[in-house]
Amino acid sequence: MNFFIKNCSLDKEKTDCIVVGIFNFYQLSVSAKHLDKCSNGYIKNIIKLGDIKGEIGETLMLYNVPQIFSKRILLIGCGDKNNINILIFKKILKNTINILKKISVKNIICSLIDINISDQYNIYWLIRVTVLAIRENLYKIIKINKKDSNHLNLNLITLNILKENDFFIAQTSLKHALAIDRGISYAKNLSNLPPNICNPLYLSHQAQKIFKKYKKNITVDIIDFIEMKNLKMNAYLAVGDGAKNKPFMSVIKYSGNNIINKKVIALVGKGLTFDSGGISIKPSLNMDEMKYDMCGAAAVYGILIMAAELQLPLTIIGIIASCENMIGSNSFRPGDVLTTMSGRTVEVLNTDAEGRLVLSDALTYVERFSPNIVIDIATLTGACVTALGESVSGLFTNSEDLAKELNRASQQTDDKIWRLPLFLEYQKQLSSDIADLSNIGKGKAGAITAAFFLSYFTRKYNWAHLDIAGTAWKSGKNKGATGRPVELLSQFLLNQSNYTYS
Ligand code: BES
Ligand code: MN
Ligand code: ZN
Repeated sequence: MNFFIKNCSLDKEKTDCIVVGIFNFYQLSVSAKHLDKCSNGYIKNIIKLGDIKGEIGETLMLYNVPQIFSKRILLIGCGDKNNINILIFKKILKNTINILKKISVKNIICSLIDINISDQYNIYWLIRVTVLAIRENLYKIIKINKKDSNHLNLNLITLNILKENDFFIAQTSLKHALAIDRGISYAKNLSNLPPNICNPLYLSHQAQKIFKKYKKNITVDIIDFIEMKNLKMNAYLAVGDGAKNKPFMSVIKYSGNNIINKKVIALVGKGLTFDSGGISIKPSLNMDEMKYDMCGAAAVYGILIMAAELQLPLTIIGIIASCENMIGSNSFRPGDVLTTMSGRTVEVLNTDAEGRLVLSDALTYVERFSPNIVIDIATLTGACVTALGESVSGLFTNSEDLAKELNRASQQTDDKIWRLPLFLEYQKQLSSDIADLSNIGKGKAGAITAAFFLSYFTRKYNWAHLDIAGTAWKSGKNKGATGRPVELLSQFLLNQSNYTYS
Protein backbone atom coordinates (compact mmCIF):
# COMPACT_ATOMS: atom_id res chain seq x y z
CA MET A 1 0.00 0.00 0.00
CA ASN A 2 1.28 3.43 -0.92
CA PHE A 3 0.73 6.92 0.36
CA PHE A 4 1.03 10.09 -1.69
CA ILE A 5 0.91 13.74 -0.79
CA LYS A 6 -0.77 16.03 -3.27
CA ASN A 7 -2.30 19.44 -3.47
CA CYS A 8 -5.36 18.42 -5.53
CA SER A 9 -8.11 20.17 -7.31
CA LEU A 10 -10.56 17.72 -5.75
CA ASP A 11 -13.32 17.93 -8.35
CA LYS A 12 -10.98 16.93 -11.20
CA GLU A 13 -9.36 13.91 -9.56
CA LYS A 14 -10.16 10.59 -11.19
CA THR A 15 -10.19 8.31 -8.20
CA ASP A 16 -12.41 5.65 -6.63
CA CYS A 17 -13.36 7.75 -3.65
CA ILE A 18 -12.77 11.13 -2.06
CA VAL A 19 -13.17 11.31 1.71
CA VAL A 20 -14.29 14.63 3.20
CA GLY A 21 -15.58 15.71 6.59
CA ILE A 22 -18.85 17.36 7.57
CA PHE A 23 -19.71 18.80 10.97
CA ASN A 24 -22.75 19.01 13.22
CA PHE A 25 -25.59 21.26 12.08
CA TYR A 26 -24.91 20.52 8.41
CA GLN A 27 -21.64 22.45 8.25
CA LEU A 28 -19.17 21.48 5.54
CA SER A 29 -15.39 21.24 5.79
CA VAL A 30 -13.29 23.26 3.33
CA SER A 31 -12.95 20.24 1.03
CA ALA A 32 -16.64 19.35 1.24
CA LYS A 33 -17.52 22.97 0.46
CA HIS A 34 -15.34 22.89 -2.63
CA LEU A 35 -16.99 19.71 -3.91
CA ASP A 36 -20.40 21.14 -3.11
CA LYS A 37 -19.70 24.28 -5.10
CA CYS A 38 -18.39 22.33 -8.10
CA SER A 39 -21.51 20.14 -8.07
CA ASN A 40 -23.89 23.09 -7.78
CA GLY A 41 -24.96 22.41 -4.21
CA TYR A 42 -25.46 18.66 -4.65
CA ILE A 43 -23.91 17.78 -1.30
CA LYS A 44 -25.85 20.42 0.64
CA ASN A 45 -29.09 19.21 -0.93
CA ILE A 46 -28.40 15.64 0.10
CA ILE A 47 -27.54 16.69 3.62
CA LYS A 48 -30.80 18.63 3.81
CA LEU A 49 -32.66 15.37 3.28
CA GLY A 50 -31.44 14.51 6.78
CA ASP A 51 -29.63 11.24 6.12
CA ILE A 52 -26.49 12.55 7.76
CA LYS A 53 -26.23 15.27 10.34
CA GLY A 54 -22.48 15.43 10.79
CA GLU A 55 -22.24 13.58 14.06
CA ILE A 56 -19.29 11.36 14.84
CA GLY A 57 -19.95 7.82 13.67
CA GLU A 58 -22.18 8.91 10.78
CA THR A 59 -21.05 8.24 7.23
CA LEU A 60 -22.71 8.57 3.85
CA MET A 61 -21.45 7.35 0.50
CA LEU A 62 -22.41 9.38 -2.57
CA TYR A 63 -22.07 8.02 -6.10
CA ASN A 64 -21.73 9.81 -9.44
CA VAL A 65 -21.90 13.30 -8.03
CA PRO A 66 -22.41 15.73 -10.94
CA GLN A 67 -19.30 17.57 -12.20
CA ILE A 68 -17.07 15.50 -9.92
CA PHE A 69 -14.63 13.11 -11.60
CA SER A 70 -14.29 10.77 -8.62
CA LYS A 71 -16.60 7.72 -8.63
CA ARG A 72 -17.58 8.26 -5.01
CA ILE A 73 -17.55 10.82 -2.26
CA LEU A 74 -17.54 9.55 1.28
CA LEU A 75 -18.94 12.00 3.82
CA ILE A 76 -17.63 11.44 7.33
CA GLY A 77 -19.33 12.91 10.38
CA CYS A 78 -16.80 14.85 12.45
CA GLY A 79 -19.04 16.22 15.20
CA ASP A 80 -18.68 19.66 16.70
CA LYS A 81 -16.50 21.75 14.39
CA ASN A 82 -14.82 23.59 17.25
CA ASN A 83 -14.33 20.62 19.49
CA ILE A 84 -12.22 18.10 17.63
CA ASN A 85 -9.32 16.76 19.63
CA ILE A 86 -6.75 14.17 18.71
CA LEU A 87 -8.81 11.27 20.07
CA ILE A 88 -11.83 12.32 18.01
CA PHE A 89 -9.64 12.78 14.94
CA LYS A 90 -8.34 9.22 15.34
CA LYS A 91 -11.91 7.97 15.71
CA ILE A 92 -12.91 9.75 12.50
CA LEU A 93 -10.05 8.04 10.66
CA LYS A 94 -11.07 4.70 12.13
CA ASN A 95 -14.66 5.13 10.92
CA THR A 96 -13.34 6.04 7.49
CA ILE A 97 -11.11 2.98 7.18
CA ASN A 98 -13.85 0.67 8.44
CA ILE A 99 -16.07 1.77 5.55
CA LEU A 100 -13.33 1.60 2.93
CA LYS A 101 -12.17 -1.85 4.06
CA LYS A 102 -15.54 -3.34 3.18
CA ILE A 103 -15.83 -2.08 -0.39
CA SER A 104 -13.66 -2.56 -3.42
CA VAL A 105 -12.00 0.85 -3.70
CA LYS A 106 -8.39 0.77 -4.81
CA ASN A 107 -7.41 4.42 -4.89
CA ILE A 108 -8.72 7.04 -2.58
CA ILE A 109 -8.07 10.66 -1.78
CA CYS A 110 -8.31 11.52 1.87
CA SER A 111 -9.06 15.16 2.44
CA LEU A 112 -9.63 15.10 6.17
CA ILE A 113 -6.63 17.11 7.27
CA ASP A 114 -8.54 20.33 6.65
CA ILE A 115 -10.43 19.66 9.88
CA ASN A 116 -9.15 21.99 12.55
CA ILE A 117 -8.00 20.11 15.59
CA SER A 118 -8.19 22.08 18.81
CA ASP A 119 -4.84 20.83 20.10
CA GLN A 120 -3.04 23.01 17.52
CA TYR A 121 -1.64 20.30 15.36
CA ASN A 122 0.35 21.63 12.43
CA ILE A 123 0.54 19.97 9.03
CA TYR A 124 3.48 17.78 10.09
CA TRP A 125 1.50 16.27 12.95
CA LEU A 126 -1.76 16.01 11.02
CA ILE A 127 -0.12 13.97 8.30
CA ARG A 128 1.73 11.82 10.80
CA VAL A 129 -1.32 11.07 12.88
CA THR A 130 -3.35 10.34 9.75
CA VAL A 131 -0.87 7.91 8.24
CA LEU A 132 -0.26 6.10 11.53
CA ALA A 133 -3.98 5.86 12.30
CA ILE A 134 -4.73 4.49 8.82
CA ARG A 135 -1.99 1.89 9.14
CA GLU A 136 -3.16 0.98 12.62
CA ASN A 137 -6.69 0.37 11.40
CA LEU A 138 -5.53 -1.71 8.45
CA TYR A 139 -3.29 -3.94 10.55
CA LYS A 140 -4.18 -7.61 10.60
CA ILE A 141 -2.66 -10.44 12.59
CA ILE A 142 -0.84 -12.88 10.34
CA LYS A 143 -2.42 -16.33 10.60
CA ILE A 144 0.12 -19.09 11.09
CA ASN A 145 0.70 -21.22 7.99
CA LYS A 146 -2.31 -19.81 6.13
CA LYS A 147 -2.39 -17.84 2.93
CA ASP A 148 -3.62 -14.29 3.39
CA SER A 149 -7.32 -14.83 2.59
CA ASN A 150 -8.68 -11.39 3.33
CA HIS A 151 -6.95 -9.49 0.57
CA LEU A 152 -7.19 -5.73 0.83
CA ASN A 153 -8.10 -3.79 -2.31
CA LEU A 154 -7.02 -0.42 -1.04
CA ASN A 155 -3.52 0.22 -2.37
CA LEU A 156 -3.13 3.95 -2.91
CA ILE A 157 -4.03 6.64 -0.45
CA THR A 158 -3.47 10.22 -1.54
CA LEU A 159 -3.46 12.78 1.23
CA ASN A 160 -4.73 16.09 -0.02
CA ILE A 161 -3.03 19.15 1.39
CA LEU A 162 -4.63 22.56 0.99
CA LYS A 163 -1.45 24.57 0.52
CA GLU A 164 1.20 23.81 -2.08
CA ASN A 165 3.71 25.42 0.29
CA ASP A 166 3.20 22.65 2.81
CA PHE A 167 4.44 20.03 0.40
CA PHE A 168 7.95 19.62 1.75
CA ILE A 169 6.97 19.39 5.38
CA ALA A 170 4.12 17.03 4.53
CA GLN A 171 6.54 14.83 2.63
CA THR A 172 8.93 14.77 5.60
CA SER A 173 6.09 13.87 7.88
CA LEU A 174 5.02 11.03 5.60
CA LYS A 175 8.57 9.69 5.55
CA HIS A 176 8.73 9.73 9.34
CA ALA A 177 5.28 8.17 9.69
CA LEU A 178 6.15 5.32 7.33
CA ALA A 179 9.38 4.58 9.17
CA ILE A 180 7.60 4.60 12.53
CA ASP A 181 4.87 2.40 11.10
CA ARG A 182 7.46 -0.10 9.92
CA GLY A 183 8.76 -0.24 13.45
CA ILE A 184 5.30 -0.60 14.96
CA SER A 185 4.15 -3.25 12.49
CA TYR A 186 7.35 -5.18 12.92
CA ALA A 187 7.00 -5.12 16.70
CA LYS A 188 3.35 -6.22 16.47
CA ASN A 189 4.08 -9.09 14.09
CA LEU A 190 6.91 -10.39 16.22
CA SER A 191 4.92 -10.06 19.45
CA ASN A 192 1.87 -11.80 18.04
CA LEU A 193 3.83 -14.93 17.10
CA PRO A 194 3.15 -18.01 19.22
CA PRO A 195 5.80 -18.96 21.75
CA ASN A 196 6.57 -22.30 20.09
CA ILE A 197 7.75 -20.35 17.05
CA CYS A 198 9.09 -17.22 18.68
CA ASN A 199 11.48 -18.75 21.22
CA PRO A 200 14.68 -17.09 22.47
CA LEU A 201 16.75 -18.39 19.55
CA TYR A 202 14.19 -17.14 17.05
CA LEU A 203 13.71 -13.81 18.78
CA SER A 204 17.35 -12.94 19.22
CA HIS A 205 18.33 -14.13 15.76
CA GLN A 206 15.83 -11.80 14.10
CA ALA A 207 18.54 -9.21 14.61
CA GLN A 208 20.74 -10.65 11.86
CA LYS A 209 17.84 -10.98 9.44
CA ILE A 210 16.43 -7.52 9.86
CA PHE A 211 19.66 -5.67 9.84
CA LYS A 212 21.23 -7.23 6.76
CA LYS A 213 19.56 -4.42 4.88
CA TYR A 214 21.33 -1.78 6.95
CA LYS A 215 24.69 -3.44 7.35
CA LYS A 216 26.58 -0.19 6.76
CA ASN A 217 25.22 1.17 10.00
CA ILE A 218 24.49 -1.88 12.09
CA THR A 219 26.47 -4.67 13.69
CA VAL A 220 24.98 -7.56 15.61
CA ASP A 221 26.50 -9.67 18.35
CA ILE A 222 24.67 -12.68 19.70
CA ILE A 223 25.57 -13.89 23.15
CA ASP A 224 24.70 -17.48 24.01
CA PHE A 225 24.41 -19.05 27.45
CA ILE A 226 28.05 -20.15 27.47
CA GLU A 227 29.23 -16.60 26.96
CA MET A 228 26.72 -15.43 29.55
CA LYS A 229 28.27 -17.89 32.00
CA ASN A 230 31.68 -16.39 31.32
CA LEU A 231 30.22 -12.96 31.93
CA LYS A 232 28.72 -14.20 35.24
CA MET A 233 25.20 -13.26 34.22
CA ASN A 234 23.85 -15.67 36.81
CA ALA A 235 20.51 -13.99 37.47
CA TYR A 236 19.64 -13.95 33.76
CA LEU A 237 20.78 -17.55 33.35
CA ALA A 238 18.87 -18.81 36.39
CA VAL A 239 15.58 -17.68 34.83
CA GLY A 240 16.29 -19.73 31.72
CA ASP A 241 17.39 -22.85 33.59
CA GLY A 242 14.05 -24.64 33.52
CA ALA A 243 13.64 -24.33 29.76
CA LYS A 244 14.88 -26.57 26.99
CA ASN A 245 15.13 -23.47 24.80
CA LYS A 246 18.35 -21.79 25.86
CA PRO A 247 18.67 -18.06 26.59
CA PHE A 248 20.14 -15.72 23.97
CA MET A 249 20.95 -12.05 24.16
CA SER A 250 21.38 -9.94 21.03
CA VAL A 251 23.44 -6.79 21.06
CA ILE A 252 22.74 -4.49 18.14
CA LYS A 253 24.85 -1.42 17.48
CA TYR A 254 23.43 1.25 15.24
CA SER A 255 25.61 4.11 14.26
CA GLY A 256 24.31 6.86 11.97
CA ASN A 257 26.42 8.44 9.25
CA ASN A 258 26.71 12.01 10.43
CA ILE A 259 26.38 11.80 14.17
CA ILE A 260 25.11 15.12 15.48
CA ASN A 261 24.36 13.93 18.98
CA LYS A 262 27.31 12.18 20.58
CA LYS A 263 25.33 10.59 23.39
CA VAL A 264 25.27 6.82 23.40
CA ILE A 265 21.66 5.73 23.88
CA ALA A 266 20.95 2.14 24.89
CA LEU A 267 17.57 0.43 24.69
CA VAL A 268 17.16 -2.78 26.66
CA GLY A 269 14.11 -4.95 25.97
CA LYS A 270 12.66 -7.68 28.17
CA GLY A 271 12.33 -10.66 25.85
CA LEU A 272 10.64 -13.47 27.79
CA THR A 273 9.20 -15.47 24.91
CA PHE A 274 7.05 -17.24 27.47
CA ASP A 275 6.59 -16.60 31.17
CA SER A 276 4.88 -19.53 32.91
CA GLY A 277 5.94 -18.05 36.24
CA GLY A 278 8.33 -20.97 36.77
CA ILE A 279 7.90 -22.92 40.00
CA SER A 280 5.84 -19.99 41.35
CA ILE A 281 3.51 -20.93 38.50
CA LYS A 282 0.90 -18.56 37.14
CA PRO A 283 -2.83 -19.38 37.15
CA SER A 284 -3.93 -20.96 33.87
CA LEU A 285 -6.53 -18.33 32.96
CA ASN A 286 -5.05 -16.23 30.14
CA MET A 287 -1.62 -17.74 30.64
CA ASP A 288 -1.32 -17.84 26.84
CA GLU A 289 -0.92 -14.07 26.99
CA MET A 290 2.48 -14.54 28.56
CA LYS A 291 3.78 -15.05 25.03
CA TYR A 292 3.62 -11.24 25.00
CA ASP A 293 6.24 -11.05 27.71
CA MET A 294 8.72 -10.25 24.93
CA CYS A 295 6.96 -7.09 23.77
CA GLY A 296 9.73 -4.91 25.22
CA ALA A 297 12.31 -6.69 23.07
CA ALA A 298 10.03 -6.45 20.02
CA ALA A 299 9.74 -2.71 20.62
CA VAL A 300 13.53 -2.38 20.68
CA TYR A 301 13.65 -4.00 17.25
CA GLY A 302 10.91 -1.73 15.98
CA ILE A 303 12.66 1.40 17.21
CA LEU A 304 15.96 0.34 15.64
CA ILE A 305 14.22 -0.32 12.32
CA MET A 306 12.75 3.18 12.44
CA ALA A 307 16.17 4.68 13.25
CA ALA A 308 17.88 2.79 10.45
CA GLU A 309 15.16 3.66 7.92
CA LEU A 310 15.51 7.36 8.71
CA GLN A 311 19.27 7.14 9.12
CA LEU A 312 19.08 9.03 12.40
CA PRO A 313 22.39 10.76 13.24
CA LEU A 314 22.75 8.93 16.56
CA THR A 315 24.51 6.03 18.22
CA ILE A 316 22.05 3.48 19.58
CA ILE A 317 22.70 0.16 21.31
CA GLY A 318 19.79 -2.27 21.31
CA ILE A 319 19.76 -5.22 23.70
CA ILE A 320 17.33 -8.08 23.23
CA ALA A 321 17.35 -9.93 26.56
CA SER A 322 15.60 -13.17 25.74
CA CYS A 323 14.87 -16.40 27.56
CA GLU A 324 11.96 -18.57 28.62
CA ASN A 325 10.63 -18.96 32.19
CA MET A 326 9.61 -22.61 32.41
CA ILE A 327 9.27 -25.44 34.86
CA GLY A 328 11.65 -28.37 34.92
CA SER A 329 13.95 -30.33 37.18
CA ASN A 330 16.60 -27.72 36.45
CA SER A 331 14.41 -24.70 37.21
CA PHE A 332 15.58 -22.12 39.70
CA ARG A 333 13.57 -22.17 42.91
CA PRO A 334 12.09 -19.89 45.51
CA GLY A 335 14.83 -19.65 48.15
CA ASP A 336 17.75 -19.70 45.71
CA VAL A 337 20.35 -16.97 46.10
CA LEU A 338 21.83 -15.70 42.85
CA THR A 339 25.00 -13.68 42.42
CA THR A 340 24.31 -11.16 39.68
CA MET A 341 26.87 -9.91 37.16
CA SER A 342 27.21 -6.78 39.31
CA GLY A 343 28.23 -8.86 42.30
CA ARG A 344 25.04 -8.06 44.18
CA THR A 345 23.30 -11.11 45.59
CA VAL A 346 19.58 -11.68 45.19
CA GLU A 347 17.33 -14.00 47.11
CA VAL A 348 14.61 -15.42 44.88
CA LEU A 349 11.32 -15.34 46.75
CA ASN A 350 9.15 -15.73 43.68
CA THR A 351 10.30 -17.20 40.38
CA ASP A 352 7.57 -15.24 38.62
CA ALA A 353 9.43 -12.01 39.34
CA GLU A 354 11.87 -13.06 36.61
CA GLY A 355 11.94 -10.00 34.38
CA ARG A 356 13.90 -7.95 36.89
CA LEU A 357 16.46 -10.76 37.22
CA VAL A 358 17.05 -10.92 33.49
CA LEU A 359 17.14 -7.13 33.22
CA SER A 360 19.50 -6.68 36.18
CA ASP A 361 22.25 -8.51 34.32
CA ALA A 362 21.41 -6.95 30.94
CA LEU A 363 21.54 -3.51 32.58
CA THR A 364 24.94 -4.32 34.07
CA TYR A 365 26.18 -5.68 30.76
CA VAL A 366 25.28 -2.45 28.97
CA GLU A 367 27.76 -0.50 31.15
CA ARG A 368 30.54 -1.56 28.79
CA PHE A 369 29.24 0.86 26.15
CA SER A 370 29.52 3.82 28.55
CA PRO A 371 25.99 4.87 27.66
CA ASN A 372 24.72 8.35 28.53
CA ILE A 373 21.14 7.17 28.47
CA VAL A 374 19.71 3.69 29.05
CA ILE A 375 16.01 3.01 28.63
CA ASP A 376 14.65 -0.40 29.45
CA ILE A 377 11.28 -1.49 28.12
CA ALA A 378 9.55 -4.31 29.93
CA THR A 379 6.21 -6.00 30.56
CA LEU A 380 7.37 -6.07 34.15
CA THR A 381 4.48 -6.04 36.60
CA GLY A 382 0.78 -6.72 36.86
CA ALA A 383 0.86 -4.06 39.58
CA CYS A 384 1.60 -1.42 36.94
CA VAL A 385 -1.61 -2.41 35.15
CA THR A 386 -3.47 -2.02 38.44
CA ALA A 387 -1.93 1.40 39.00
CA LEU A 388 -2.19 2.95 35.53
CA GLY A 389 -4.53 0.77 33.50
CA GLU A 390 -4.20 -0.18 29.88
CA SER A 391 -3.60 3.12 28.13
CA VAL A 392 -0.69 4.45 30.14
CA SER A 393 2.81 3.00 30.53
CA GLY A 394 4.71 3.46 33.77
CA LEU A 395 7.81 5.67 33.73
CA PHE A 396 10.54 5.44 36.35
CA THR A 397 13.79 7.34 36.07
CA ASN A 398 16.80 8.58 38.00
CA SER A 399 17.14 11.63 35.74
CA GLU A 400 14.96 14.74 35.70
CA ASP A 401 16.18 15.59 32.20
CA LEU A 402 15.23 12.20 30.88
CA ALA A 403 11.81 12.48 32.53
CA LYS A 404 11.32 15.81 30.76
CA GLU A 405 12.42 14.47 27.38
CA LEU A 406 10.27 11.36 27.62
CA ASN A 407 7.24 13.35 28.75
CA ARG A 408 7.75 15.69 25.82
CA ALA A 409 7.83 12.79 23.35
CA SER A 410 4.77 11.34 25.06
CA GLN A 411 2.79 14.55 24.66
CA GLN A 412 3.83 14.87 21.02
CA THR A 413 2.75 11.33 20.13
CA ASP A 414 -0.10 10.74 22.57
CA ASP A 415 1.71 7.50 23.49
CA LYS A 416 0.97 8.03 27.14
CA ILE A 417 3.31 7.52 30.09
CA TRP A 418 3.11 8.55 33.74
CA ARG A 419 6.00 8.88 36.12
CA LEU A 420 5.94 6.99 39.40
CA PRO A 421 8.37 7.70 42.24
CA LEU A 422 11.48 5.87 43.41
CA PHE A 423 11.49 7.27 46.94
CA LEU A 424 13.97 5.72 49.37
CA GLU A 425 11.06 4.66 51.56
CA TYR A 426 10.52 1.72 49.19
CA GLN A 427 14.03 0.40 49.76
CA LYS A 428 13.25 -1.62 52.89
CA GLN A 429 10.60 -3.62 51.07
CA LEU A 430 13.38 -5.30 49.10
CA SER A 431 15.52 -6.35 52.07
CA SER A 432 16.67 -9.94 52.53
CA ASP A 433 18.39 -11.53 55.50
CA ILE A 434 20.56 -13.77 53.36
CA ALA A 435 21.32 -11.59 50.32
CA ASP A 436 21.67 -7.91 49.31
CA LEU A 437 18.18 -7.86 47.87
CA SER A 438 15.14 -10.03 47.49
CA ASN A 439 13.48 -10.23 44.10
CA ILE A 440 10.02 -9.21 45.30
CA GLY A 441 8.95 -6.32 47.46
CA LYS A 442 7.15 -6.98 50.70
CA GLY A 443 3.87 -5.13 50.81
CA LYS A 444 2.25 -2.95 48.18
CA ALA A 445 3.38 -0.78 45.24
CA GLY A 446 4.64 -3.73 43.20
CA ALA A 447 5.40 -1.68 40.08
CA ILE A 448 7.59 0.64 42.10
CA THR A 449 9.44 -2.02 44.08
CA ALA A 450 10.20 -3.80 40.78
CA ALA A 451 11.60 -0.56 39.33
CA PHE A 452 13.44 0.08 42.59
CA PHE A 453 15.05 -3.33 42.22
CA LEU A 454 16.29 -2.35 38.75
CA SER A 455 17.60 0.96 40.04
CA TYR A 456 20.34 -0.85 41.97
CA PHE A 457 21.82 -1.91 38.66
CA THR A 458 21.58 1.40 36.81
CA ARG A 459 23.59 3.77 38.95
CA LYS A 460 26.28 4.42 36.35
CA TYR A 461 24.09 6.19 33.80
CA ASN A 462 20.92 8.17 33.22
CA TRP A 463 18.27 5.53 33.21
CA ALA A 464 14.57 5.23 32.53
CA HIS A 465 12.38 2.19 32.90
CA LEU A 466 9.11 1.85 30.98
CA ASP A 467 6.71 -0.70 32.43
CA ILE A 468 4.52 -1.62 29.47
CA ALA A 469 2.65 -4.52 31.11
CA GLY A 470 -0.68 -2.75 30.57
CA THR A 471 -0.03 -1.15 27.19
CA ALA A 472 1.92 -3.68 25.11
CA TRP A 473 -1.02 -5.80 24.09
CA LYS A 474 -4.80 -5.94 24.19
CA SER A 475 -6.78 -8.85 25.64
CA GLY A 476 -10.24 -10.09 24.73
CA LYS A 477 -12.01 -9.51 21.43
CA ASN A 478 -9.25 -7.44 19.87
CA LYS A 479 -6.44 -9.48 21.32
CA GLY A 480 -3.10 -8.52 19.87
CA ALA A 481 0.08 -6.56 20.35
CA THR A 482 -0.12 -2.76 20.16
CA GLY A 483 3.45 -1.98 19.13
CA ARG A 484 3.79 0.41 22.06
CA PRO A 485 6.00 2.23 22.97
CA VAL A 486 7.64 2.31 19.53
CA GLU A 487 6.01 5.62 18.65
CA LEU A 488 6.99 7.23 21.95
CA LEU A 489 10.64 6.26 21.71
CA SER A 490 10.81 6.96 17.98
CA GLN A 491 9.76 10.51 18.80
CA PHE A 492 12.27 10.66 21.63
CA LEU A 493 15.00 9.72 19.15
CA LEU A 494 13.72 12.13 16.48
CA ASN A 495 13.93 14.87 19.09
CA GLN A 496 17.46 13.77 20.01
CA SER A 497 18.28 14.10 16.30
CA ASN A 498 16.76 17.59 16.11
CA TYR A 499 14.26 16.29 13.57
CA THR A 500 11.30 17.99 15.22
CA TYR A 501 8.64 19.96 13.38
CA SER A 502 6.62 21.75 15.96
N1 BES B 1 5.46 -10.71 32.93
C1 BES B 1 4.93 -10.58 34.23
C2 BES B 1 4.16 -9.28 34.41
C3 BES B 1 2.79 -9.22 33.83
C4 BES B 1 1.74 -9.87 34.44
C5 BES B 1 2.55 -8.47 32.72
C6 BES B 1 0.48 -9.78 33.89
C7 BES B 1 1.29 -8.35 32.19
C8 BES B 1 0.25 -9.03 32.78
C9 BES B 1 6.03 -10.58 35.27
O1 BES B 1 7.10 -11.41 34.98
C10 BES B 1 5.43 -11.07 36.53
O2 BES B 1 5.01 -12.19 36.57
N2 BES B 1 5.38 -10.23 37.55
C11 BES B 1 4.78 -10.57 38.78
C12 BES B 1 5.67 -10.06 39.89
C13 BES B 1 5.28 -10.54 41.23
C14 BES B 1 5.54 -12.02 41.36
C15 BES B 1 6.06 -9.79 42.27
C16 BES B 1 3.40 -9.92 38.84
O3 BES B 1 3.25 -8.81 38.38
O4 BES B 1 2.47 -10.60 39.29
MN1 MN C 1 6.74 -13.37 35.63
ZN1 ZN D 1 7.43 -11.82 32.99
